[in-house]
Amino acid sequence: MPAKKPLVIVTRKLPDAIETRMRELFDTRIRDDDQPMTQAQLVEAVQQADVLVPTITDRIDAKVLVRAGEKLKLIANFGAGVDNIDVKTALERGIAVTNTPGVLTEDTADMTMALILAVPRRLVEGVEVLHADKFSSWSPSWMLGHRIWGKRLGIIGMGRIGQAVARRAKAFGLQIHYHNRKRVPAAIEQELDATYWDSLDQMLARMDIVSVNCPHTPATYHLLSARRLKMMKPSAYLVNTARGEVIDENALARMLASGELAGAGLDVFEHEPAVNPKLMKLKSVVLLPHMGSATLEGRIDMGEKVIINIKTFADGHKPPDRVIPAML
Ligand code: 8YV
Repeated sequence: MPAKKPLVIVTRKLPDAIETRMRELFDTRIRDDDQPMTQAQLVEAVQQADVLVPTITDRIDAKVLVRAGEKLKLIANFGAGVDNIDVKTALERGIAVTNTPGVLTEDTADMTMALILAVPRRLVEGVEVLHADKFSSWSPSWMLGHRIWGKRLGIIGMGRIGQAVARRAKAFGLQIHYHNRKRVPAAIEQELDATYWDSLDQMLARMDIVSVNCPHTPATYHLLSARRLKMMKPSAYLVNTARGEVIDENALARMLASGELAGAGLDVFEHEPAVNPKLMKLKSVVLLPHMGSATLEGRIDMGEKVIINIKTFADGHKPPDRVIPAML
């Protein structure tokens, strides 16, 4: 890192307090319009910057990285997931990568719980009925959803967010089941009354609600393939606040349309910002535009993590949130 303030290029608008602090600490460049950068603009940025601060809307692939200037030594991602970055190529080229774990756990778990409630209880449909002025009379058999209390929730990915979802869901009376690469410590299983399933296939076949809370890596791409989705009960619901790529979205849309699955709550999509048009037509889904961690508090905490990572690195130390190959 140079002795003078490092040149930090930030690809998107961040909360004012974060931008101000970054300008104080670093030679910071932030675009005025809050538009995603094109690949050409990203190349230009990596050629100039000492540090790049991208977000999920920036694809930092090998083509961009091979054109990076000698000066680029750190990519401080504004986000927990790093599937927008070719981390392996970055590390091979001596560029460190950091992320922002921990600070968006509770907000993302809240949004997951909101979808777990919203889909079976037909929340959005209810709102639409009122807005369409179709609430003519209450009836005992009208707008019936399904109870979540006592049902089985299968969490795929029992990291920080998965556990935070489990804590909330347990309080709502759901039985907690999970599949993870590694079993979580016994104390956590006990606290959450959680049942571990080594076999994802077997868990899927028995769950009433499935929540995706694992990162998108080469190993989790289409983890919920057409074959696996077919294992779920036709009465089951699927919720995804992690990454769209973990589910075969086309297969999911087909199955929801044909009634082979009861419903889905999706905050993320396979080809974001595009949403499969088949999904848009369905009543049985609640769709959100990637809002899982979208709170002002969360964005400020994420920004502070980015600042700490850059400052520590610029001061010659290892930044706290380094992404290492074992995480991928
Ligand atoms: C962020 C997310 O909004 O941090 C993540 O991994 O998925 C989001 O909640 C986004 O990634 C910011 O880059």
